[in-house]
Amino acid sequence: MSQAQLKPSSISAEWRKDFPILSQSVNGHPLVYLDSAASGQQPAAVIDAVAHYHREDHANVHRGVHTLSQRATDAFEGARDKIRDFINAASRTEVVMTSGTTESINLVAQSFCRPRIGPGDKVLITHLEHHANIVPWQLVCEQTGAELVVAPMDDQGQLELEKLWALLTDDVFILAIGHVSNALGTVNPIKGIIAEARERDIPVLVDGAQGVPHMAIDVQDLDCDFYAFSGHKMFGPTGTGVLYAREAHLESMPPYQGGGDMILEVSFESTVYNELPYKFEAGTPNIGGVIGLGAAVDYLQSIGMQRIADYERDLHDYMVAALESVDGIRLIGTAASKASVQSFLLDDIHSHDLGTILDHQGVAIRTGHHCAMPVMSRFGISGTARASIAFYNNSDDVDRLIAALLKARQLFT
Ligand code: ALA
Repeated sequence: MSQAQLKPSSISAEWRKDFPILSQSVNGHPLVYLDSAASGQQPAAVIDAVAHYHREDHANVHRGVHTLSQRATDAFEGARDKIRDFINAASRTEVVMTSGTTESINLVAQSFCRPRIGPGDKVLITHLEHHANIVPWQLVCEQTGAELVVAPMDDQGQLELEKLWALLTDDVFILAIGHVSNALGTVNPIKGIIAEARERDIPVLVDGAQGVPHMAIDVQDLDCDFYAFSGHKMFGPTGTGVLYAREAHLESMPPYQGGGDMILEVSFESTVYNELPYKFEAGTPNIGGVIGLGAAVDYLQSIGMQRIADYERDLHDYMVAALESVDGIRLIGTAASKASVQSFLLDDIHSHDLGTILDHQGVAIRTGHHCAMPVMSRFGISGTARASIAFYNNSDDVDRLIAALLKARQLFT
């Protein structure tokens, strides 16, 4: 990829204009936002959709015969249909709205696993996971006496597949695995892994928080049992998320929470639960947020996820090559297949110091353990600096990152 192809005159400049927040200055410098793995920015279309709902249509959903409630319900359920189409779920009943990836995974741990596992069963995860795909499984193992087993990764931050296959034994009740590592950017060969697990009748949950914003997801093609993701990482509002789950699983699972909206009939003697997916959506949902998430889906589809993936792959390659050219850089996470993220260390500068110096130059990166402390331990470090791109970034952003790193190096030597 030549630098010229990625300059602001490229198509990403058009996309960037859709994100009002990106046109500001921070600490006297035009903002360079390289922290989309922590949270993506929202296009005006999302901000406007949320504002429109609050200005014109706000009322509770599923409950009122009046016009505002019907408008709110139509927009909320319309968003569910958009999400179903976006991930190609077989049915809208398989799209459960949650507060984010974390809640989606906890729901599966508590509702799918907890009633069915006990001593002698195993929950298999990998060394690459975010804490949200570790701690819910630790909790359910403590509650049930099941054992948590961890598949290893190599020095590049890739799963050791032969070892993973050997761990897919009859006593594994579920495999929970990230699609893309938030700390390292490793893209796991998820389709092949799901196929291996299915051959052994082991259900698979995919933590797709870092997958959905960067590539087309087709849950039927992946053939996974569960796919969890967050709205705010895919340029929608915070506090929104999705659990995709096969209908047969959802039918067989008890509700995760009790409350309004998840019931058909309640008496003190017994309760009849609502149909899917409402059985898993107790209480008033984040209505404005979900409507905004629907707008984010429309926006992403107007560009096309394949186009986004192609553009970001080239920009990621450009960023990695540029970082490699900086004296004193140590890249953490050098898998053959990566998306969005590059973690690194510069000389012996603490990552938080580096992040602060970069911020003074208007460059936003994330520093620390990235909610993946076992990944850091595997590399014998406490944290990294992490630059993460989205389709609104371009090579100028990378050039500014490199210039800021060179300046940090000058300050420390
Ligand atoms: N999981 C988010 C990140 O990777 C917060 O930064």
